[in-house]
Amino acid sequence: MRAFLVVVTLIVLAIAAPRMAAQKVELSIDESKPGAKIDRNLFGQFAEHLGHGIYDGIWVGSDSTIPNTRGIRNDVVVALKAIHVPNVRWPGGCFADEYHWRDGIGPERGVRLNPNWGGVIEPNTFGTHEFMDFIDQIGSEAYVSVNLGSGSPHEASDWLEYMTAAQATTLEKERAANGHAAPYKVALLGLGNESWDCGGNMTPDYYLDRMKVFSRFVRNYNPAQIEKDQMLKIAVGPGGSEQRWTDWTETVMKAYQQHTWSWDINGLSMHSYTVVKWPPAFKSVGFGEDEYAQILKSTLDMDELIKKHSAIMDKYDPQKKVALVVDEWGGWYAPLPGSNPGFLVQQNSLRDAIMAALNINIFARHADRVRGANLAQMINVLQAMIMTDHEKMLLTPTYYVYKMYVPFQDSTFVPVTFDAGSYKHGEFNLPRVDAMAAKSKDGKLCVELTNVDPRQAADVQLNVPGINVKSASGETLTAAQVDSVNTFEAPNAVVPKPISAKAQGGKLILHLEPKSVTVVSVEQ
Ligand code: AHR
Repeated sequence: MRAFLVVVTLIVLAIAAPRMAAQKVELSIDESKPGAKIDRNLFGQFAEHLGHGIYDGIWVGSDSTIPNTRGIRNDVVVALKAIHVPNVRWPGGCFADEYHWRDGIGPERGVRLNPNWGGVIEPNTFGTHEFMDFIDQIGSEAYVSVNLGSGSPHEASDWLEYMTAAQATTLEKERAANGHAAPYKVALLGLGNESWDCGGNMTPDYYLDRMKVFSRFVRNYNPAQIEKDQMLKIAVGPGGSEQRWTDWTETVMKAYQQHTWSWDINGLSMHSYTVVKWPPAFKSVGFGEDEYAQILKSTLDMDELIKKHSAIMDKYDPQKKVALVVDEWGGWYAPLPGSNPGFLVQQNSLRDAIMAALNINIFARHADRVRGANLAQMINVLQAMIMTDHEKMLLTPTYYVYKMYVPFQDSTFVPVTFDAGSYKHGEFNLPRVDAMAAKSKDGKLCVELTNVDPRQAADVQLNVPGINVKSASGETLTAAQVDSVNTFEAPNAVVPKPISAKAQGGKLILHLEPKSVTVVSVEQ
């Protein structure tokens, strides 16, 4: 009898679930108090020589049957152009601190091993010129990380002279002979990578001494970057919240406060993955609500991490001249069964799309200090935008979030207030709804709304005091399951669809489906 009652109750609950009344949320947008610029560099990408991130993902070679322009896949270029990638961080990651740029120029390439990532052969067929060509084809900018770990200041300064010199130096002539007479633009320069770990296990003081030398001698000579558009130098920063990381931030920022004319930095990097436990064990597909709630709860720690390191930066740099650049972030899960564990191959689900939206909103709320972020990694690695398999390519749910957020690039933050409510699952309690608003470059009011709850819809009433809001339209992204993914067989399982609402009786209500990300622009 008891078993019968349990079954009946479950059936009743299952029938009732889809009919659960939508949660009502009132959201107020205060256009009179604009905040910081949401720097387009918050939407940066990261492409490391790792697994199929570069080879197959970007580079197929000019003799490939896969359509390409000078060896770079056309399908990938078209897809990336559509999301307006502001910068691409390259060549690593851990790889950067073992990279020797001369292996990647000229007709004879240095064939090396890639000990960090599977110990495979690194042919170096994708080097400086190929990277810059790729950047040019997708309409982006270069964020080059120099080898501060196993390289020398001499090697790094030569690389910059090779890339940026306009006068007829030996290195400039070599670049021209290799096919590029005009100097390249290097928008951002990384002074090492994770120097506390794979970048050389340095103490903060040792790193600081070394970083100052690199900052002094690694110069950009491009005439177009001398006065304006100056190259921004990003120092290695923290990788977590524990004391070793706060000590690191303290050391670098204290030195920055006292820095003289002979060295400078414009940014401090921070790395933070959503991983929960190490080695990464959570599945990237084939999981249920438990892992959905746990991963999303964990990703929200980004906010506290930013606050912690921003507070230290504020002490030494109250004018916020140094940006916090979260140049590695994203979900890091167990490698897909059958893949090379050194290639960091994982699927990308609706959960990742929601995770991306939550993190971008956190960055935007800290936009006065956080002026750069690079999702790890762009293609075929970790929380990728794009996955490729020979001639096939698919766009992930995370890709679509980046596409929906394009209007937020270089927009102006506008404060929103709302009661988020809560989504509880087991021991996990998260805000049910998240929201962020901004005035886009063309003056449109854009609003992002995330409904984290995987079972209950939300009806959001948009209020803009003093403004008669007429309608809102845009796109919404959701799917059947929290772990829904796009595959090469079914590449359109998770794609955005249009959403719109018209004001009625002076009220504008947007219906958010469960587990969804929505971006609308508001007509006044
Ligand atoms: O993104 C993969 C690796 O994660 C990077 O190479 C390294 O910087 C980080 O530990």
